[in-house]
Amino acid sequence: MIQTAVCSILLLVWAGVVQVSECATRSSGSEDKVRFAWNKLLSSDELSWTKCYENRECAKLKVPLDYANPEKASASIALIRLRSKVSPHSSAYRGPILINPGGPGVSGVDFIRGAYGDILALILGPNFDIVSFDPRGIRRSTPVASFFDTAAERALWLPSIRKYSLNASANAVAAAWARGTILGQLAGERDYDGSLRFINTENTARDMLQIVEAHGREKLSYWGFSYGTVLGATFAAMFPDKIERMVIDGVVNSNSFYAGDWTDSLLDADTAWQSFAEDCVAAGPSRCAFYAPTTAEISSSIQAIYTRLRQRPIPVRGKTSYGLVDFSMLREVIFLAVYAPYIIFPQLAPALASLAEGDGTALFELDARYGLHPFECNCDNEDAEPPDELSQEGFWAVFCNDAERIPAGYDEFFKDYQGILAVSELADMIEPLRAGCVAWPDYPKTNFRGPFVANTSFPLLILGNTADPVTPLASAKKMSEGFAGSVVLTQNCVGYYLQQHTTISVPSLCTHKHLRAYFQDGKLPEPGIVCEVEAEVFPLPDSELDHRGSAQRVMRVPKARLAQLSAEDRQLVDRLSELATSVLDLMHPL
Ligand SMILES: *[C@@H]1O[C@H](CO)[C@@H](O)[C@H](O)[C@H]1NC(C)=O
Ligand SMILES: *[C@@H]1O[C@H](CO)[C@@H](O)[C@H](O)[C@H]1NC(C)=O
Repeated sequence: MIQTAVCSILLLVWAGVVQVSECATRSSGSEDKVRFAWNKLLSSDELSWTKCYENRECAKLKVPLDYANPEKASASIALIRLRSKVSPHSSAYRGPILINPGGPGVSGVDFIRGAYGDILALILGPNFDIVSFDPRGIRRSTPVASFFDTAAERALWLPSIRKYSLNASANAVAAAWARGTILGQLAGERDYDGSLRFINTENTARDMLQIVEAHGREKLSYWGFSYGTVLGATFAAMFPDKIERMVIDGVVNSNSFYAGDWTDSLLDADTAWQSFAEDCVAAGPSRCAFYAPTTAEISSSIQAIYTRLRQRPIPVRGKTSYGLVDFSMLREVIFLAVYAPYIIFPQLAPALASLAEGDGTALFELDARYGLHPFECNCDNEDAEPPDELSQEGFWAVFCNDAERIPAGYDEFFKDYQGILAVSELADMIEPLRAGCVAWPDYPKTNFRGPFVANTSFPLLILGNTADPVTPLASAKKMSEGFAGSVVLTQNCVGYYLQQHTTISVPSLCTHKHLRAYFQDGKLPEPGIVCEVEAEVFPLPDSELDHRGSAQRVMRVPKARLAQLSAEDRQLVDRLSELATSVLDLMHPL
């Protein structure tokens, strides 16, 4: 029996690059049971759930492609759920909570099918169904945004857009713009059935209402991350009386998103990156392998590595692949690291120390683990899941359709880059994605784009981290102004919403308790609360709870902190840790 690791790597994110990676080991032997396959599932007006994956159910819901002409073509939304542990007939049962993991482009099915689904259920409680979906345009839903005729064509072209720093060479900005121009042309040319223009956030908000109604309910309970906060805010502004509960977590300023303006998304990015040097100095040489007595010395050592890599990329024969460690690869890893500092900073420090010695192996392995994965053809299996990389096309479809027209010219693109660069030095890794819209087909802009002001039928709970590289706290506060009665809960940590709140490296019992109280009892936290997290970026080697006994692993909860927890909390941390470890295991099945 052949075991193949099948990884869904969901790159991207609202304006960024992170992977929410779920890999499943699939067996292709004769002992296979009748396997679930999406293409065998019928799309229907009613939710008819079929067993799929492990302990999950899936369905396809038929919705109008164009809500202005509902009797014409339809779209099909792929749904997944993790069922409540209590019976739907029990009085304890609280119904579905819809989840959107961000992007745009990230697949909700992938997000819920693995350990993330279990983690969310653990945080929220046993009496909800955890439900998510691939929004229209994305992966298993139709229409699907697909600009390449074959997987091989996609694999050859996509990395050229995704993997290059705009500061890698003198013509890098111009090359990114030129590649983006081609991408927009392809998108228009390959919109064979004319459905591309209907892939936008307004329509997905309408789809969510259909999903709620198909559950026999009137109002939405929702938890959206990152771009999922744009989707949530859009829904709340369009249907303010349809809110039962709504958490928006890792908040994008929807006004800027729809304006096509990314500048305020990076407001906290440099703070997040600077925390690497600060934490390293504070941790000392025994805990941080790239230690120097001052942050200035650390920065200048990094500059020296940049200079060296620009002149002489380092050849590496890695465990499973090979390639060059160059300036762009280092920038990519740094960009990933600020998303998940509790996981990646402790690995980045020794990788940088090796680079300073001219050895690129550790950095190469980091990139292989967390960056874009090499192309793996699944071409002969017609029941195969659609390729992960489609998520990237979903990103462009939604963003380019949603936003005000992005100007086509190179000068405007260059000027926009300069504007973002003025906010953060990490602009070189974000702006290439925006280039995908410069030659986008010229559809009329009639979609809902605000204002985001409403008296919702239940107040929103709004979450932000103190230094999130792409969804700054200022955006959480800004969006809160428009939604009457909403409360901002701050979590005091560096890094991107997703890793830090729900999952992997850093649980915050404080945040989890507020989330649960909100969904279960409708209790909003007092305004102004700041939750701490239960972990350190550079932990003492012997001070962590670690199910695998490896310093590289998750859950760096100091022993002293663990000792303070109640038995119940300790159990929750333990269980989260276990699940988190399995998420990480799945991230790199080497
Ligand atoms: C480009 O990289 C160099 C390091 O090689 C750095 O000094 C410079 O500040 C960077 N410029 C931008 C615009 O990021
Ligand atoms: C919300 O309610 C307040 C008080 O009733 C009212 O003044 C305001 O105009 C309402 N806002 C919206 C957007 O409906």
